[in-house]
Amino acid sequence: MSTPLPSHPPPPRAAVLTGVGSCLPPTAVTNDELAERLDSSDAWIRSRTGIRRRYVASPGTATSDLAVGAGAKALKSSGTPDVDAVLLATTTPDRPCPATAPAVAARLGLTGAAAYDVSAVCTGFLYALASGAGLIAAGAADRVLVIGAETFSTLLDPDDRSTAVIFGDGAGAVVLRAGDAAEPGALGPFDLGSDGGREELITVAAGGSRQRLSGVPPATRDQYFAMEGKEVFRHAVRRMSASARSVLGRAGWRAEDVDHLVGHQANLRITHHVADAVGIPRRRCFSNIAEVGNTAAASIPLALDQAHADGVLTPGGRVLLTAFGGGLTWGSTVLTWPGPDRA
Ligand code: UT7
Repeated sequence: MSTPLPSHPPPPRAAVLTGVGSCLPPTAVTNDELAERLDSSDAWIRSRTGIRRRYVASPGTATSDLAVGAGAKALKSSGTPDVDAVLLATTTPDRPCPATAPAVAARLGLTGAAAYDVSAVCTGFLYALASGAGLIAAGAADRVLVIGAETFSTLLDPDDRSTAVIFGDGAGAVVLRAGDAAEPGALGPFDLGSDGGREELITVAAGGSRQRLSGVPPATRDQYFAMEGKEVFRHAVRRMSASARSVLGRAGWRAEDVDHLVGHQANLRITHHVADAVGIPRRRCFSNIAEVGNTAAASIPLALDQAHADGVLTPGGRVLLTAFGGGLTWGSTVLTWPGPDRA
């Protein structure tokens, strides 16, 4: 006689945040410095975006260099030198081939770990976090290092004031470990989505298979990042608000339960509109955009590390993460901030 199957399968393993770190290049560029060569001003940039300065990687510094810096700090803060997988969210890999994550893993002493890049522009970190949580839930990994790193300055048209003032370089990282859904630090449900029908709103036209290598260099403008800012603003507010509401519903949280909204740092006005739409007081939004600008896939882990270091995120605080980016893509999740021994 066969043994009867248990009536309730064991609950899936949860991914628990257990370390956080970040890395910025040493050079900060102020609004006034940009305004010297662009038809712009500190007053315009601050009032329309909330940005005061951003960090820019010097020639010779690649995305992997920042990723290694953030990853090493996150591993140290988690108290473990070892993980089973390294996921790198980036729009600016070191080169088109191979992926940047294996080199980052090797430089962190993690040769042998699974390592791959995740490409979802400014939503990349949320997508990578969901992917890491999925590896843990599936039993494919017990510990995962999730990094968001960008050298977005390498894509910017220095003469395009509508993008050159917004983006900055940097990296942030978290470590996830297998645990229980009821533990502090456990990632809640995810809401992820995309709308490729509007891909033209955020693009770099050249460098891929659509414009093949032909021996003739692509037009310079096609190699630069291009964005329809006004339209993207509207989508960002709409998509992040809907995604945040959806994930709160799935988690069984009300808007008033959220202690900290840590959203993608695209524009302070976008963050405030999202908070208003979801019903979260603006004072509960954490923002570091004034100091680092929009760092795309790095923005959420950079913000988490700074909020943790500043003592804003304290054990037990309920945190909502939400992001929006090119693709179009969006995603959200929630977690309760872990204890001091864990982050
Ligand atoms: O990371 C995820 C994706 N990115 C985003 O979510 C960013 C979304 N978009 C935005 O944050 C905003 O749309 C921008 C910051 C890009 C632009 O702000 P805006 O308030 O939407 O400005 P606008 O594009 O409507 O432009 C208003 C005016 C225009 O001049 P006219 O046509 O009214 O004479 C622009 O040419 O401001 C002008 N302008 C500038 N002026 C000074 C645009 N950029 C600048 C600038 N300095 N840097």
